[in-house]
Amino acid sequence: MSGARSVPTELSRLAESFGDISLRQMFARDANRAVALSRVVPLGDCQLLVDFSKQRLNAEVVGALLAYANECGLIQRRNDMVAGKAINTTENRAVTHMAIRATGDTTASATLRADAQASEHELRDVVATLPSSITHVVSIGIGGSDLGPALVCDALAAMRPAQRTVRFVSNIDPLDLDRAVQGLTARHTVFVVCSKTFGTTETLSNARRAVTWLTSAGVRQLSDHFIAVTAHPERVAASGVPVGRVLTMPESVGGRFSVSSSVSVSVALGFGIDALLEVRDGMRLMDEHFVDAPLIDNVPVLHGLIGWWNATLLGDATVAVIPYSRVLALLPAYLQQLMMESNGKSIDADGHPVATASPVVWGGVGTNAQHAFFQLLHQGPQTVPCDFVGHSTALGSSSDDHDVLIANMFAQSQALAFGVTPDEVGGDAKLRVHRATPGNRPSTTLLFSQLTPRAVGALIALYEHTTFVQGVMWGVNSFDQWGVELGKQLAAKLEQDMKGTPTGGHDTSTARLLDQHRQWRKPR
Ligand code: F6P
Repeated sequence: MSGARSVPTELSRLAESFGDISLRQMFARDANRAVALSRVVPLGDCQLLVDFSKQRLNAEVVGALLAYANECGLIQRRNDMVAGKAINTTENRAVTHMAIRATGDTTASATLRADAQASEHELRDVVATLPSSITHVVSIGIGGSDLGPALVCDALAAMRPAQRTVRFVSNIDPLDLDRAVQGLTARHTVFVVCSKTFGTTETLSNARRAVTWLTSAGVRQLSDHFIAVTAHPERVAASGVPVGRVLTMPESVGGRFSVSSSVSVSVALGFGIDALLEVRDGMRLMDEHFVDAPLIDNVPVLHGLIGWWNATLLGDATVAVIPYSRVLALLPAYLQQLMMESNGKSIDADGHPVATASPVVWGGVGTNAQHAFFQLLHQGPQTVPCDFVGHSTALGSSSDDHDVLIANMFAQSQALAFGVTPDEVGGDAKLRVHRATPGNRPSTTLLFSQLTPRAVGALIALYEHTTFVQGVMWGVNSFDQWGVELGKQLAAKLEQDMKGTPTGGHDTSTARLLDQHRQWRKPR
Protein backbone atom coordinates (compact mmCIF):
# COMPACT_ATOMS: atom_id res chain seq x y z
CA MET A 1 0.00 0.00 0.00
CA SER A 2 1.43 3.38 -0.95
CA GLY A 3 -0.36 5.58 1.59
CA ALA A 4 -3.33 5.84 3.93
CA ARG A 5 -6.62 4.79 2.38
CA SER A 6 -8.92 7.58 1.20
CA VAL A 7 -12.70 7.42 1.37
CA PRO A 8 -14.46 7.05 -2.02
CA THR A 9 -15.90 10.29 -3.37
CA GLU A 10 -19.29 8.62 -3.74
CA LEU A 11 -19.51 8.15 0.04
CA SER A 12 -18.37 11.72 0.67
CA ARG A 13 -21.03 12.97 -1.77
CA LEU A 14 -23.69 10.93 0.01
CA ALA A 15 -22.56 12.25 3.39
CA GLU A 16 -22.87 15.83 2.14
CA SER A 17 -26.38 15.17 0.85
CA PHE A 18 -27.47 14.37 4.42
CA GLY A 19 -26.98 18.06 5.25
CA ASP A 20 -30.13 18.73 3.18
CA ILE A 21 -32.49 16.10 4.55
CA SER A 22 -33.55 15.38 8.11
CA LEU A 23 -34.70 12.21 9.85
CA ARG A 24 -38.16 13.78 10.01
CA GLN A 25 -38.22 14.10 6.24
CA MET A 26 -36.79 10.63 5.67
CA PHE A 27 -39.48 9.04 7.85
CA ALA A 28 -42.20 11.16 6.21
CA ARG A 29 -41.13 10.05 2.75
CA ASP A 30 -40.79 6.34 3.43
CA ALA A 31 -43.48 4.55 5.44
CA ASN A 32 -41.44 1.33 5.28
CA ARG A 33 -38.23 2.86 6.65
CA ALA A 34 -38.40 1.32 10.15
CA VAL A 35 -38.88 -2.18 8.75
CA ALA A 36 -36.37 -1.78 5.93
CA LEU A 37 -33.63 -0.58 8.28
CA SER A 38 -34.18 -3.07 11.13
CA ARG A 39 -32.86 -6.59 11.57
CA VAL A 40 -33.81 -9.42 13.94
CA VAL A 41 -31.28 -12.00 15.21
CA PRO A 42 -32.61 -15.20 16.87
CA LEU A 43 -30.49 -16.15 19.89
CA GLY A 44 -31.91 -19.44 21.14
CA ASP A 45 -33.88 -18.41 24.21
CA CYS A 46 -34.42 -14.79 23.09
CA GLN A 47 -34.32 -12.49 20.09
CA LEU A 48 -32.62 -9.23 19.30
CA LEU A 49 -34.18 -6.46 17.23
CA VAL A 50 -31.70 -3.87 15.99
CA ASP A 51 -33.31 -0.71 14.64
CA PHE A 52 -30.95 1.39 12.50
CA SER A 53 -33.76 3.49 11.02
CA LYS A 54 -33.04 6.53 13.24
CA GLN A 55 -29.55 6.80 11.75
CA ARG A 56 -28.85 9.43 9.09
CA LEU A 57 -28.74 7.09 6.13
CA ASN A 58 -30.85 5.32 3.54
CA ALA A 59 -30.64 2.17 1.42
CA GLU A 60 -28.25 3.90 -0.99
CA VAL A 61 -25.84 4.71 1.85
CA VAL A 62 -26.03 1.15 3.17
CA GLY A 63 -25.25 -0.13 -0.35
CA ALA A 64 -22.29 2.23 -0.70
CA LEU A 65 -20.98 1.31 2.77
CA LEU A 66 -21.15 -2.40 1.96
CA ALA A 67 -19.40 -1.82 -1.38
CA TYR A 68 -16.61 0.09 0.35
CA ALA A 69 -16.35 -2.59 3.05
CA ASN A 70 -15.78 -5.11 0.27
CA GLU A 71 -13.12 -2.86 -1.22
CA CYS A 72 -11.43 -2.67 2.19
CA GLY A 73 -11.33 -6.47 2.26
CA LEU A 74 -13.70 -6.92 5.21
CA ILE A 75 -14.76 -10.44 4.29
CA GLN A 76 -11.20 -11.55 3.62
CA ARG A 77 -10.06 -10.11 6.97
CA ARG A 78 -12.92 -11.82 8.79
CA ASN A 79 -12.10 -15.11 7.06
CA ASP A 80 -8.42 -14.65 7.91
CA MET A 81 -9.37 -14.20 11.56
CA VAL A 82 -11.51 -17.35 11.49
CA ALA A 83 -8.68 -19.26 9.77
CA GLY A 84 -6.20 -18.23 12.46
CA LYS A 85 -3.94 -16.11 10.24
CA ALA A 86 -1.68 -13.65 12.06
CA ILE A 87 -3.90 -10.59 11.50
CA ASN A 88 -2.41 -8.90 14.59
CA THR A 89 0.54 -7.91 12.43
CA THR A 90 2.48 -5.74 14.88
CA GLU A 91 2.64 -8.63 17.33
CA ASN A 92 2.62 -11.36 14.69
CA ARG A 93 -0.29 -13.17 16.32
CA ALA A 94 -3.53 -14.82 15.29
CA VAL A 95 -6.73 -13.51 16.87
CA THR A 96 -8.68 -16.43 18.30
CA HIS A 97 -11.35 -15.24 20.72
CA MET A 98 -14.04 -16.83 18.53
CA ALA A 99 -12.30 -20.20 18.76
CA ILE A 100 -12.87 -20.37 22.54
CA ARG A 101 -16.64 -20.54 22.11
CA ALA A 102 -16.77 -22.24 18.70
CA THR A 103 -18.45 -25.61 18.43
CA GLY A 104 -17.91 -26.17 14.70
CA ASP A 105 -15.79 -25.20 11.73
CA THR A 106 -17.86 -22.12 10.85
CA THR A 107 -16.15 -19.79 13.30
CA ALA A 108 -12.85 -21.62 13.94
CA SER A 109 -10.93 -24.56 12.51
CA ALA A 110 -10.63 -27.77 14.55
CA THR A 111 -6.96 -27.04 15.30
CA LEU A 112 -7.71 -23.54 16.56
CA ARG A 113 -10.58 -24.84 18.66
CA ALA A 114 -8.37 -27.52 20.19
CA ASP A 115 -5.66 -24.96 21.08
CA ALA A 116 -8.06 -22.34 22.38
CA GLN A 117 -10.03 -24.82 24.42
CA ALA A 118 -7.02 -26.61 25.91
CA SER A 119 -7.65 -25.07 29.30
CA GLU A 120 -11.35 -25.92 29.24
CA HIS A 121 -11.02 -29.09 31.35
CA GLU A 122 -8.83 -27.21 33.87
CA LEU A 123 -11.53 -24.57 34.18
CA ARG A 124 -14.23 -27.15 34.76
CA ASP A 125 -12.02 -28.95 37.27
CA VAL A 126 -11.28 -25.79 39.24
CA VAL A 127 -14.97 -24.96 39.41
CA ALA A 128 -15.97 -28.52 40.33
CA THR A 129 -13.30 -29.00 43.01
CA LEU A 130 -13.28 -25.66 44.80
CA PRO A 131 -14.21 -26.62 48.36
CA SER A 132 -17.71 -25.69 49.49
CA SER A 133 -16.07 -23.91 52.46
CA ILE A 134 -15.09 -21.19 49.97
CA THR A 135 -18.06 -18.88 49.82
CA HIS A 136 -16.41 -15.66 48.59
CA VAL A 137 -14.53 -15.01 45.37
CA VAL A 138 -12.43 -11.88 44.93
CA SER A 139 -11.27 -11.42 41.35
CA ILE A 140 -8.14 -9.30 41.02
CA GLY A 141 -7.37 -7.99 37.54
CA ILE A 142 -7.56 -4.82 35.46
CA GLY A 143 -8.71 -3.83 31.96
CA GLY A 144 -9.65 -6.92 30.00
CA SER A 145 -8.90 -9.05 33.05
CA ASP A 146 -11.64 -7.27 34.98
CA LEU A 147 -14.25 -5.41 32.92
CA GLY A 148 -15.74 -8.39 31.05
CA PRO A 149 -16.22 -10.75 34.01
CA ALA A 150 -17.41 -7.83 36.17
CA LEU A 151 -20.05 -6.92 33.57
CA VAL A 152 -21.18 -10.53 33.18
CA CYS A 153 -21.36 -11.16 36.95
CA ASP A 154 -23.36 -7.97 37.49
CA ALA A 155 -25.80 -9.08 34.79
CA LEU A 156 -26.08 -12.73 35.90
CA ALA A 157 -26.79 -11.69 39.48
CA ALA A 158 -30.32 -10.82 38.29
CA MET A 159 -30.78 -14.06 36.34
CA ARG A 160 -29.18 -16.96 38.20
CA PRO A 161 -28.96 -17.86 41.90
CA ALA A 162 -25.56 -16.96 43.35
CA GLN A 163 -23.48 -19.91 44.52
CA ARG A 164 -20.83 -17.61 46.00
CA THR A 165 -20.40 -13.86 46.36
CA VAL A 166 -18.05 -12.38 43.76
CA ARG A 167 -16.25 -9.07 44.15
CA PHE A 168 -13.81 -7.34 41.84
CA VAL A 169 -10.62 -5.45 42.57
CA SER A 170 -8.86 -3.60 39.78
CA ASN A 171 -7.33 -0.29 40.82
CA ILE A 172 -4.05 -0.04 42.72
CA ASP A 173 -5.85 2.51 44.89
CA PRO A 174 -5.48 0.66 48.21
CA LEU A 175 -9.11 1.36 49.05
CA ASP A 176 -10.20 -0.95 46.24
CA LEU A 177 -8.90 -4.08 47.95
CA ASP A 178 -9.74 -2.77 51.43
CA ARG A 179 -13.39 -2.42 50.39
CA ALA A 180 -13.54 -5.70 48.48
CA VAL A 181 -12.47 -7.75 51.50
CA GLN A 182 -14.60 -5.81 53.98
CA GLY A 183 -16.89 -8.22 55.80
CA LEU A 184 -15.30 -11.34 54.27
CA THR A 185 -13.74 -14.12 56.32
CA ALA A 186 -10.30 -15.06 55.07
CA ARG A 187 -10.68 -18.85 55.36
CA HIS A 188 -13.82 -18.71 53.20
CA THR A 189 -12.27 -16.53 50.50
CA VAL A 190 -10.47 -17.39 47.27
CA PHE A 191 -8.63 -14.78 45.19
CA VAL A 192 -8.60 -15.18 41.41
CA VAL A 193 -5.55 -13.34 40.08
CA CYS A 194 -6.28 -12.59 36.43
CA SER A 195 -3.51 -11.23 34.27
CA LYS A 196 -2.79 -12.32 30.74
CA THR A 197 0.83 -11.15 31.06
CA PHE A 198 1.15 -11.81 34.79
CA GLY A 199 3.23 -8.66 34.84
CA THR A 200 0.68 -5.91 35.48
CA THR A 201 1.71 -3.78 38.46
CA GLU A 202 -1.78 -3.09 39.76
CA THR A 203 -2.79 -6.74 39.73
CA LEU A 204 0.38 -8.15 41.26
CA SER A 205 0.46 -5.47 43.97
CA ASN A 206 -3.15 -6.17 44.90
CA ALA A 207 -2.46 -9.92 44.91
CA ARG A 208 0.46 -9.41 47.29
CA ARG A 209 -1.74 -7.31 49.58
CA ALA A 210 -4.27 -10.15 49.48
CA VAL A 211 -1.50 -12.48 50.73
CA THR A 212 -0.90 -10.09 53.64
CA TRP A 213 -4.64 -9.95 54.40
CA LEU A 214 -4.90 -13.76 54.47
CA THR A 215 -1.73 -14.16 56.52
CA SER A 216 -2.77 -11.60 59.10
CA ALA A 217 -6.09 -13.42 59.43
CA GLY A 218 -4.16 -16.58 60.35
CA VAL A 219 -4.55 -18.52 57.07
CA ARG A 220 -1.67 -20.98 56.75
CA GLN A 221 -2.25 -22.89 53.52
CA LEU A 222 -2.16 -19.78 51.33
CA SER A 223 -2.06 -21.63 48.01
CA ASP A 224 -5.57 -22.98 48.66
CA HIS A 225 -6.75 -19.39 48.43
CA PHE A 226 -5.25 -18.37 45.08
CA ILE A 227 -6.19 -19.26 41.52
CA ALA A 228 -4.26 -17.61 38.68
CA VAL A 229 -5.44 -17.01 35.11
CA THR A 230 -2.70 -16.15 32.63
CA ALA A 231 -1.17 -16.77 29.22
CA HIS A 232 2.21 -17.01 31.00
CA PRO A 233 2.04 -19.71 33.68
CA GLU A 234 5.84 -19.71 33.81
CA ARG A 235 5.72 -16.23 35.43
CA VAL A 236 3.43 -17.20 38.30
CA ALA A 237 6.06 -18.63 40.65
CA ALA A 238 8.33 -15.58 40.28
CA SER A 239 5.46 -13.23 41.18
CA GLY A 240 5.68 -14.15 44.85
CA VAL A 241 1.95 -14.95 44.98
CA PRO A 242 1.45 -18.48 46.37
CA VAL A 243 -0.93 -19.75 43.68
CA GLY A 244 -2.44 -23.23 44.07
CA ARG A 245 -4.20 -23.57 40.70
CA VAL A 246 -3.23 -22.01 37.39
CA LEU A 247 -5.65 -21.63 34.49
CA THR A 248 -4.22 -20.73 31.13
CA MET A 249 -5.53 -18.59 28.29
CA PRO A 250 -4.09 -18.39 24.78
CA GLU A 251 -1.68 -15.58 23.88
CA SER A 252 -3.76 -15.09 20.74
CA VAL A 253 -6.79 -13.92 22.75
CA GLY A 254 -6.48 -10.21 23.44
CA GLY A 255 -7.27 -9.02 26.99
CA ARG A 256 -10.28 -6.94 25.92
CA PHE A 257 -11.55 -9.86 23.81
CA SER A 258 -11.01 -12.42 26.58
CA VAL A 259 -14.35 -12.55 28.38
CA SER A 260 -15.13 -16.02 27.02
CA SER A 261 -11.77 -17.38 28.25
CA SER A 262 -10.77 -18.63 31.71
CA VAL A 263 -10.60 -14.96 32.70
CA SER A 264 -14.28 -15.45 33.51
CA VAL A 265 -13.67 -18.31 35.97
CA SER A 266 -15.11 -16.04 38.67
CA VAL A 267 -18.41 -16.03 36.72
CA ALA A 268 -18.48 -19.84 36.89
CA LEU A 269 -17.47 -19.87 40.57
CA GLY A 270 -20.17 -17.34 41.38
CA PHE A 271 -23.06 -18.61 39.27
CA GLY A 272 -22.10 -22.10 38.13
CA ILE A 273 -20.33 -23.39 35.05
CA ASP A 274 -23.61 -23.67 33.13
CA ALA A 275 -24.24 -19.95 33.43
CA LEU A 276 -20.83 -19.19 31.90
CA LEU A 277 -21.48 -21.75 29.16
CA GLU A 278 -24.79 -20.04 28.32
CA VAL A 279 -23.00 -16.70 27.99
CA ARG A 280 -20.46 -18.32 25.69
CA ASP A 281 -23.28 -19.94 23.73
CA GLY A 282 -24.81 -16.52 23.09
CA MET A 283 -21.41 -15.31 21.90
CA ARG A 284 -21.15 -18.27 19.55
CA LEU A 285 -24.60 -17.59 18.12
CA MET A 286 -23.56 -14.01 17.36
CA ASP A 287 -20.23 -15.26 15.91
CA GLU A 288 -22.13 -17.60 13.59
CA HIS A 289 -24.44 -14.78 12.52
CA PHE A 290 -21.35 -12.59 11.86
CA VAL A 291 -19.76 -15.29 9.72
CA ASP A 292 -22.88 -16.68 8.00
CA ALA A 293 -25.37 -13.84 7.46
CA PRO A 294 -25.27 -11.96 4.17
CA LEU A 295 -23.66 -8.55 4.70
CA ILE A 296 -26.94 -6.71 4.09
CA ASP A 297 -28.50 -8.57 7.06
CA ASN A 298 -25.37 -8.85 9.15
CA VAL A 299 -25.96 -6.90 12.35
CA PRO A 300 -22.31 -6.51 13.50
CA VAL A 301 -21.31 -5.51 9.96
CA LEU A 302 -24.10 -2.92 9.67
CA HIS A 303 -23.54 -1.69 13.23
CA GLY A 304 -19.82 -1.33 12.61
CA LEU A 305 -20.23 0.39 9.26
CA ILE A 306 -22.83 2.84 10.59
CA GLY A 307 -20.53 3.77 13.48
CA TRP A 308 -17.73 4.25 10.94
CA TRP A 309 -20.04 6.41 8.74
CA ASN A 310 -20.98 8.62 11.70
CA ALA A 311 -17.40 9.11 12.86
CA THR A 312 -15.62 9.32 9.53
CA LEU A 313 -18.06 10.99 7.18
CA LEU A 314 -20.55 12.78 9.37
CA GLY A 315 -17.83 13.95 11.76
CA ASP A 316 -19.22 12.75 15.10
CA ALA A 317 -16.38 12.70 17.61
CA THR A 318 -18.11 10.65 20.29
CA VAL A 319 -20.68 7.89 20.68
CA ALA A 320 -22.82 7.30 23.78
CA VAL A 321 -24.01 3.86 24.88
CA ILE A 322 -27.06 3.97 27.13
CA PRO A 323 -28.29 0.66 28.57
CA TYR A 324 -31.83 0.91 29.91
CA SER A 325 -31.12 -1.90 32.31
CA ARG A 326 -29.57 -1.72 35.75
CA VAL A 327 -27.75 -5.00 35.12
CA LEU A 328 -25.90 -3.57 32.10
CA ALA A 329 -24.63 -0.54 34.01
CA LEU A 330 -21.03 -1.64 33.42
CA LEU A 331 -21.50 -1.90 29.64
CA PRO A 332 -20.20 1.61 28.81
CA ALA A 333 -17.00 1.04 30.81
CA TYR A 334 -16.52 -2.36 29.18
CA LEU A 335 -17.00 -0.87 25.70
CA GLN A 336 -14.63 1.98 26.41
CA GLN A 337 -11.77 -0.48 26.66
CA LEU A 338 -13.00 -2.74 23.88
CA MET A 339 -13.53 0.01 21.33
CA MET A 340 -11.06 2.72 22.29
CA GLU A 341 -8.11 0.49 23.18
CA SER A 342 -8.70 -1.37 19.93
CA ASN A 343 -9.25 1.49 17.49
CA GLY A 344 -7.98 4.59 19.29
CA LYS A 345 -5.08 4.89 16.89
CA SER A 346 -3.67 7.45 14.45
CA ILE A 347 -1.48 5.11 12.43
CA ASP A 348 -2.83 2.39 10.16
CA ALA A 349 -1.54 -1.17 10.08
CA ASP A 350 0.95 -0.18 7.35
CA GLY A 351 2.34 2.71 9.37
CA HIS A 352 0.54 5.56 7.59
CA PRO A 353 -1.34 8.29 9.45
CA VAL A 354 -5.13 7.96 9.47
CA ALA A 355 -7.43 10.99 9.59
CA THR A 356 -10.15 9.37 11.72
CA ALA A 357 -10.41 6.33 13.95
CA SER A 358 -12.35 5.46 17.10
CA PRO A 359 -14.70 8.12 18.46
CA VAL A 360 -14.73 8.64 22.21
CA VAL A 361 -17.07 6.03 23.70
CA TRP A 362 -18.97 7.03 26.81
CA GLY A 363 -22.38 6.62 28.38
CA GLY A 364 -24.42 5.87 31.46
CA VAL A 365 -27.43 3.90 32.54
CA GLY A 366 -30.97 5.04 31.61
CA THR A 367 -32.98 6.72 33.04
CA ASN A 368 -30.31 8.18 35.37
CA ALA A 369 -28.42 9.50 32.35
CA GLN A 370 -31.52 11.39 31.21
CA HIS A 371 -31.38 13.41 34.42
CA ALA A 372 -27.67 14.05 34.05
CA PHE A 373 -26.27 14.58 30.55
CA PHE A 374 -29.19 14.20 28.12
CA GLN A 375 -29.64 17.98 28.01
CA LEU A 376 -26.45 18.11 25.94
CA LEU A 377 -27.58 15.23 23.74
CA HIS A 378 -30.82 17.05 22.88
CA GLN A 379 -29.71 20.67 22.64
CA GLY A 380 -25.90 20.76 22.78
CA PRO A 381 -23.97 22.05 19.77
CA GLN A 382 -22.44 18.66 18.98
CA THR A 383 -24.20 15.58 17.62
CA VAL A 384 -23.66 12.44 19.70
CA PRO A 385 -24.88 9.21 18.07
CA CYS A 386 -26.38 6.93 20.73
CA ASP A 387 -26.81 3.20 21.14
CA PHE A 388 -29.85 2.42 23.28
CA VAL A 389 -29.88 -1.09 24.76
CA GLY A 390 -32.92 -2.57 26.49
CA HIS A 391 -35.04 -5.68 26.97
CA SER A 392 -38.80 -6.12 26.79
CA THR A 393 -39.12 -8.58 29.68
CA ALA A 394 -38.41 -7.18 33.13
CA LEU A 395 -35.69 -8.61 35.36
CA GLY A 396 -36.92 -6.73 38.41
CA SER A 397 -40.17 -7.40 40.23
CA SER A 398 -42.47 -5.00 38.36
CA SER A 399 -43.30 -5.37 34.67
CA ASP A 400 -45.26 -2.13 34.83
CA ASP A 401 -42.28 -0.12 36.03
CA HIS A 402 -40.13 -1.88 33.46
CA ASP A 403 -42.57 -0.69 30.79
CA VAL A 404 -42.01 2.86 32.04
CA LEU A 405 -38.26 2.32 31.75
CA ILE A 406 -38.57 1.12 28.16
CA ALA A 407 -41.06 3.90 27.33
CA ASN A 408 -38.32 6.31 28.38
CA MET A 409 -35.80 4.59 26.14
CA PHE A 410 -38.10 4.83 23.12
CA ALA A 411 -38.99 8.43 24.00
CA GLN A 412 -35.34 9.48 24.04
CA SER A 413 -34.57 8.08 20.60
CA GLN A 414 -37.80 9.66 19.33
CA ALA A 415 -36.99 13.07 20.82
CA LEU A 416 -33.42 12.93 19.52
CA ALA A 417 -34.54 11.98 16.01
CA PHE A 418 -37.54 14.24 15.53
CA GLY A 419 -37.11 17.05 18.05
CA VAL A 420 -39.72 19.74 18.43
CA THR A 421 -39.83 23.03 16.51
CA PRO A 422 -40.48 26.42 18.13
CA ASP A 423 -43.92 26.47 16.50
CA GLU A 424 -44.80 23.03 17.83
CA VAL A 425 -43.65 24.01 21.32
CA GLY A 426 -46.11 26.92 21.37
CA GLY A 427 -46.64 29.03 24.48
CA ASP A 428 -44.58 32.09 25.40
CA ALA A 429 -42.99 33.39 22.19
CA LYS A 430 -39.72 34.32 23.92
CA LEU A 431 -39.26 30.88 25.41
CA ARG A 432 -40.05 28.87 22.31
CA VAL A 433 -36.50 29.03 21.01
CA HIS A 434 -35.20 27.75 24.35
CA ARG A 435 -37.73 24.96 24.56
CA ALA A 436 -37.37 23.71 20.98
CA THR A 437 -35.00 20.81 20.30
CA PRO A 438 -33.44 20.45 16.86
CA GLY A 439 -33.84 16.70 16.35
CA ASN A 440 -32.03 14.89 13.52
CA ARG A 441 -29.78 13.28 16.14
CA PRO A 442 -29.03 9.67 15.32
CA SER A 443 -29.40 6.54 17.40
CA THR A 444 -29.54 2.76 17.10
CA THR A 445 -31.86 0.80 19.37
CA LEU A 446 -30.91 -2.75 20.41
CA LEU A 447 -33.98 -4.38 21.94
CA PHE A 448 -33.82 -7.93 23.35
CA SER A 449 -37.00 -9.88 23.94
CA GLN A 450 -35.50 -10.77 27.31
CA LEU A 451 -32.06 -10.47 28.83
CA THR A 452 -30.75 -13.99 29.36
CA PRO A 453 -27.13 -15.07 29.84
CA ARG A 454 -27.15 -15.85 26.09
CA ALA A 455 -28.34 -12.33 25.33
CA VAL A 456 -25.51 -10.88 27.42
CA GLY A 457 -22.98 -13.03 25.53
CA ALA A 458 -24.47 -12.09 22.16
CA LEU A 459 -24.40 -8.39 23.04
CA ILE A 460 -20.72 -8.57 23.98
CA ALA A 461 -19.84 -10.54 20.83
CA LEU A 462 -21.81 -8.06 18.71
CA TYR A 463 -19.64 -5.21 19.99
CA GLU A 464 -16.46 -7.30 19.57
CA HIS A 465 -17.31 -7.74 15.89
CA THR A 466 -18.41 -4.11 15.51
CA THR A 467 -14.97 -3.15 16.80
CA PHE A 468 -13.31 -5.53 14.34
CA VAL A 469 -15.35 -4.20 11.40
CA GLN A 470 -14.50 -0.60 12.26
CA GLY A 471 -10.81 -1.44 12.64
CA VAL A 472 -10.81 -2.92 9.13
CA MET A 473 -12.54 0.18 7.75
CA TRP A 474 -10.03 2.53 9.37
CA GLY A 475 -7.21 0.17 8.40
CA VAL A 476 -5.81 0.05 11.94
CA ASN A 477 -4.60 -3.02 13.83
CA SER A 478 -7.36 -3.41 16.44
CA PHE A 479 -5.40 -5.96 18.45
CA ASP A 480 -2.38 -4.11 19.83
CA GLN A 481 -2.22 -1.28 22.40
CA TRP A 482 1.26 0.23 22.26
CA GLY A 483 -0.11 3.60 23.34
CA VAL A 484 -0.47 2.50 26.96
CA GLU A 485 3.19 1.54 27.37
CA LEU A 486 4.84 4.95 27.82
CA GLY A 487 2.63 5.82 30.78
CA LYS A 488 3.47 2.49 32.45
CA GLN A 489 7.23 3.13 32.04
CA LEU A 490 7.00 6.65 33.42
CA ALA A 491 4.90 5.48 36.38
CA ALA A 492 7.56 2.87 37.21
CA LYS A 493 10.22 5.58 37.12
CA LEU A 494 8.21 7.95 39.31
CA GLU A 495 7.60 5.12 41.76
CA GLN A 496 11.38 4.95 42.21
CA ASP A 497 11.49 8.70 42.84
CA MET A 498 8.79 8.34 45.48
CA LYS A 499 10.71 5.54 47.17
CA GLY A 500 13.69 7.89 47.46
CA THR A 501 15.80 6.90 44.42
CA PRO A 502 15.87 9.99 42.21
CA THR A 503 15.68 9.04 38.55
CA GLY A 504 16.01 12.60 37.23
CA GLY A 505 15.12 13.95 33.84
CA HIS A 506 11.59 15.06 34.77
CA ASP A 507 10.00 18.15 33.26
CA THR A 508 9.55 21.04 35.71
CA SER A 509 5.80 20.48 36.13
CA THR A 510 6.21 16.82 37.07
CA ALA A 511 9.22 17.56 39.29
CA ARG A 512 7.19 20.19 41.17
CA LEU A 513 4.22 17.83 41.60
CA LEU A 514 6.54 15.10 42.87
CA ASP A 515 8.12 17.46 45.33
CA GLN A 516 4.77 18.70 46.63
CA HIS A 517 3.45 15.15 46.97
CA ARG A 518 6.50 14.16 49.03
CA GLN A 519 5.96 17.08 51.38
CA TRP A 520 2.25 16.44 51.84
CA ARG A 521 2.32 12.66 52.04
CA LYS A 522 1.63 11.18 55.51
CA PRO A 523 2.74 7.52 55.78
CA ARG A 524 0.07 4.94 56.83
O1 F6P B 1 -2.49 -1.69 29.90
C1 F6P B 1 -3.45 -2.18 29.04
C2 F6P B 1 -3.60 -3.66 29.20
O2 F6P B 1 -2.50 -4.29 28.66
C3 F6P B 1 -4.89 -4.15 28.58
O3 F6P B 1 -4.78 -4.39 27.24
C4 F6P B 1 -5.16 -5.38 29.39
O4 F6P B 1 -6.48 -5.83 29.29
C5 F6P B 1 -4.79 -4.89 30.77
O5 F6P B 1 -3.68 -4.04 30.56
C6 F6P B 1 -4.45 -5.95 31.76
O6 F6P B 1 -3.40 -6.74 31.31
P1 F6P B 1 -3.10 -8.14 31.96
O7 F6P B 1 -4.29 -9.00 31.75
O8 F6P B 1 -1.88 -8.64 31.25
O9 F6P B 1 -2.83 -7.91 33.42
